[in-house]
Amino acid sequence: MKLIITLALLAVSYAHIIKSACDLLSIQDIIYQKEVLKKNVNDPYQMTIDYNTNTLFFSHSRANPKNNEDVFESAYLNLATNEYNIIPGILGGFSAAVDNNKHKVYLGGRNGIYEYDYETKRATHVNPNGYSIWQLFFKDKLYYTAYPQERVYTFEGGKSLIVPELKRTSAQLVALDNNYNMYFSNSSGLFCLNKSDKNIIQLGEYTINSFTADVNGNIYFSTPSAFYNIDNNQKVNKLVDLDDVFGLVVDGKNNFIYGTGDKIIRLSPTQNKCL
Ligand SMILES: *[C@@H]1O[C@H](CO)[C@@H](O)[C@H](O)[C@H]1NC(C)=O
Ligand SMILES: *[C@@H]1O[C@H](CO)[C@@H](O)[C@H](O)[C@H]1NC(C)=O
Repeated sequence: MKLIITLALLAVSYAHIIKSACDLLSIQDIIYQKEVLKKNVNDPYQMTIDYNTNTLFFSHSRANPKNNEDVFESAYLNLATNEYNIIPGILGGFSAAVDNNKHKVYLGGRNGIYEYDYETKRATHVNPNGYSIWQLFFKDKLYYTAYPQERVYTFEGGKSLIVPELKRTSAQLVALDNNYNMYFSNSSGLFCLNKSDKNIIQLGEYTINSFTADVNGNIYFSTPSAFYNIDNNQKVNKLVDLDDVFGLVVDGKNNFIYGTGDKIIRLSPTQNKCL
């Protein structure tokens, strides 16, 4: 009997899944419960949280009935009230970032950067004739990657500048830690540009589909099959294996929120053992 239980526990901890029937899973020895926050959103991607208003911004795709091509739209979900809306005024809304000090929400579209206005619930174009934005990340200023350039730029005072250290390298997604080390991904994997000596080192061959920083600036990323964090020594730790992940954010209470298929799911710690 004891042996059977031990084997069962081993099998369970290997799979990280405690009991799929009640949607629990374990991340670093904490049991989390899955809860669907939003259904019927196609490929929820490029998520970010405004911690001041507890609002999740993200993009999703929708087939254009005219030509059957996917169009991208920016949307928000208020995590306290569940209010959900598509954000008008933006061409091909694809990415989002928040300046939590100045309370500004930036959105990226097919022709540049937009600012979101909570009063009108619309986006306003702030760099006309801008590049097509792939991803936005806010740290000391707004950073972005552009498609098809695959380069990292900053946007400040209405001006876009390429990040000189990365001028010659392709970068699809970017993030900065609290020491301003810059992480970026391209089709070869994950790299870190050391802030002090400007060396670029490879941290692994991950297929990254999102970078995010929690409310304290700790860096996390997702691949289609797992969540990871990067610690202060630039060591990558795998947190959990999951299927079909599109993007990850961490809310103000350290819950994980991720996009998968046509859903947005929150993982929050629970005492529930589903017995
Ligand atoms: C990704 O970036 C690294 C580091 O700059 C570079 O060596 C590599 O060639 C890049 N990969 C691609 C596919 O451009
Ligand atoms: C970054 O560069 C500095 C200066 O060379 C070095 O002391 C530090 O260890 C480097 N950081 C990492 C994580 O390699």
